[in-house]
Amino acid sequence: MSKLRRGSGRGARCAAAVAVLTLVVTGVAAGSAQAAGSTLQAAAAESGRYFGTAIAAGRLNDSTYSTIANREFNMITAENEMKMDATEPNRGQFNYTQGDRILNWALQNGKQVRGHALAWHSQQPGWMQNMEGSDLRQAMLNHVTQVATHYKGKIYAWDVVNEAFQDGSSGARRNSNLQRTGNDWIEAAFRAARAADPGAKLCYNDYNTDDWTHAKTQAVYNMVKDFKARGVPIDCVGLQSHFNPQSPVPNNYQTTLSSFAALGVDVQITELDIEGSGSSQAENYRKVVQACLNVSRCTGITVWGVRDTDSWRSGGTPLLFDGSGNKKAAYTSTLNTLNAGGTGTPTPTPTP
Ligand code: XIL
Repeated sequence: MSKLRRGSGRGARCAAAVAVLTLVVTGVAAGSAQAAGSTLQAAAAESGRYFGTAIAAGRLNDSTYSTIANREFNMITAENEMKMDATEPNRGQFNYTQGDRILNWALQNGKQVRGHALAWHSQQPGWMQNMEGSDLRQAMLNHVTQVATHYKGKIYAWDVVNEAFQDGSSGARRNSNLQRTGNDWIEAAFRAARAADPGAKLCYNDYNTDDWTHAKTQAVYNMVKDFKARGVPIDCVGLQSHFNPQSPVPNNYQTTLSSFAALGVDVQITELDIEGSGSSQAENYRKVVQACLNVSRCTGITVWGVRDTDSWRSGGTPLLFDGSGNKKAAYTSTLNTLNAGGTGTPTPTPTP
C-alpha cells in the first residue's frame, strides 16, 4: 500500500520513468537477443569476423558433414589438399584436382578460402624431401609462384610459410631442408607469394605460439617485427592453437594476440581444436573466442574440422560437433560468446 500511496508524488514520476526505462532497456536486450546469430558464421559476422573450418575433400559427399559445414562456417581451409605434396606430386607437375574441389565448393556456397600452405618442412612430396641447397630454394620458390598463381584472386589469405620455428626454449628456426637453403628463405617465399597474388593476405602460421612468454612465440614475434621494419610483405600471423592438457589455453593468450596485432598485422586463429569434453572444454573455447573478440585485429577463427570424428586428433574429441553431428557444449559456449561480443571491433584493413 505504501508504494501505491507514493504513486502521486515526484517519487512516483521517478519510479514511472525508471519503469519505462527498464522496459525500453529490456526491449532492446530482447531485440538484440532475437537478432543474435544462430550459426557460428552469423554470430561472428556481427562483429565483422569470420568463422571457418578445415574441410577434407573426401568428406564433402557426406551430407551430414557438408550440411553442417555449409550452415555454420564462412571461411574454408583445405585440410591437406593444397599442401606441397598434394599440389606438386612430381617436380614441375602440378595437380589441383582436390584443392579445386574444396575451393569450388567454398566459392559456390559463398564462402572465402584460406590457402594452406605454400612452404612447409612437412608433407613435402618425396622428390622435394631429398633436395637441398640452391636447387631446393629454386624448387620451393617455383612451387610458391605456381600454386599462388593458380589460385590468384580466389584466396583470402595464404599460409605462406608454416611451422618454421623449433619448439622449446631456443627460439631458433627449425632445422629443415628449407631452412638449410639460407635464413632468408621465409622472406623469399613471402616475396614470391606477393608477386604471384598481390590480392591475398600473406600469413606466417605456427603452433605453440600461443603463450606470450614462450621462446617460440617471441621468436616469431621478432621475425614479424623485423619483416615489418624491412618491408617484407607480411599481412597476418596465424596461431594454429591446437590445445590439450599438455598444451592448455594460456592465460596470456589475449596478450599474444594483441601483441602481434600491435605490429600492424592481422591475427587469425587458424586451426583451433581443444581436446576435452563437457563444461571444461566449453570454457576453454569461451576463453579463446573471447580473447579474439577483444582484439580488434583478430579477424577470424577457424576450427580444424567439423565433427570430432573428422579430427586429426579424433581421440581427444576436440571439435564443436560430436560424431553424429550434434552440437556440443563447446559449440553453445562458442556461439554465445560470439553473440555477446567483445571490446575489439575489427577495423577492416584494405587488401594489400
Ligand atoms: C594435419 C591434417 O589434419 C592431417 O589430416 C594430416 O594427416 C596431417 O596434417 N598443423 C598444420 C596442419 O598446419 O596442416 C596439420 O594438419 C595439423 C598441424
